[in-house]
Amino acid sequence: MKTLNLALLGCGGITKSHRAAFAEIPEIKPFVMVDLNEELAKEVAEETGAKHVTTDWREAVAMDEVDIVDICLPHTIHSEPAVEAAKNKEHIFAEKPMATTLADCDAMIQAAEENGVTLAVGQVLRFREANEKARELLRAGRIGQPLNHIRRRVRYTPDPPRHTWARDYSLSGGWELYGFGPHEMDIMLWLADSNVSKLWARGKKIIAEKDDVDDITALFEFENGAMGTLMLSENIHKGGWDQCIGGTEGSMYITTNAIDINGEIIDGLDHSRAMFKQWREFIDAIIEKREPSHSGRNVRPSYAALEAIRRAVDTGELIDVTAL
Ligand SMILES: NC(=O)c1ccc[n+]([C@@H]2O[C@H](COP(=O)([O-])OP(=O)(O)OC[C@H]3O[C@@H](n4cnc5c(N)ncnc54)[C@H](O)[C@@H]3O)[C@@H](O)[C@H]2O)c1
Repeated sequence: MKTLNLALLGCGGITKSHRAAFAEIPEIKPFVMVDLNEELAKEVAEETGAKHVTTDWREAVAMDEVDIVDICLPHTIHSEPAVEAAKNKEHIFAEKPMATTLADCDAMIQAAEENGVTLAVGQVLRFREANEKARELLRAGRIGQPLNHIRRRVRYTPDPPRHTWARDYSLSGGWELYGFGPHEMDIMLWLADSNVSKLWARGKKIIAEKDDVDDITALFEFENGAMGTLMLSENIHKGGWDQCIGGTEGSMYITTNAIDINGEIIDGLDHSRAMFKQWREFIDAIIEKREPSHSGRNVRPSYAALEAIRRAVDTGELIDVTAL
């Protein structure tokens, strides 16, 4: 069995679940741990058995022994390390968002394709059982032809977030749009089995200290003719994270662990294996020399729709997403 030496770029919060996945995937060998916080990088190296530690991601990416980079840095520092890694013939797993502009996403996709390396993006919601089951039921025609998709991820979080960089636009690209938007837009497209054609959105900055809009509603049409509404908010006291889909012959309501399809409840759906599954899919794709299901190219339409939200919020115009 070939083992793949891994460079972990950023050793913060999300990497706890990445590290748990590495421990279950024998092909992965943690090799170099990178963080501006050197103590943290050292702790994580000790835990994972990685031999090397650095505070400079460029140094890690330049190491000849590295086969895979796992990018878990603030949002605007995803594209450049990915492009550098591709040039060094390293496979790339980028946490969501792939990047905060479509141009940066395209640079990553192009660099990976030109250098023959695999680029996967952390669209972990695709690997949750509730979403997998919902897609299977939709594809089996259980609600007929889906006509309307309404999704919300809303909560009340006026306090400063855990990450200092989340309120720094230059690092987050806008927390509401690029912290939560990538998961929510991507899962809408994945469930609809279609990409967005036209989109209009409004955004409001309700929390004074925020550096970007913290309340977004986007209305759109899919290429298959269905309609979509996405709400992202930090200002709604009773939070919610769910999706309704209405079709010609029924309807479906999806939450984290359950589905109501035409009144029948399917519950107990587990999401604890999602991170492992998305990493297993990435490693299998590298070994089998095929595109992973969450490849950069596959998820690009979600990032085109997010870019359209940004443009619509800024200009008030209806955006033709097919032109992006
Ligand atoms: N899949 C999910 O559900 C999920 C959940 C949380 C976070 N994320 C994503 O994971 C990524 C990281 O988020 P997090 O929650 O781990 O953040 P975090 O703030 O906990 O960790 C980021 C780490 O990067 C380090 N860092 C920052 N700039 C650096 C630089 N230039 N060089 C080296 N190290 C640097 C910081 O010191 C910090 O330890 C983000 O893209 C985020 O959106 C995904």
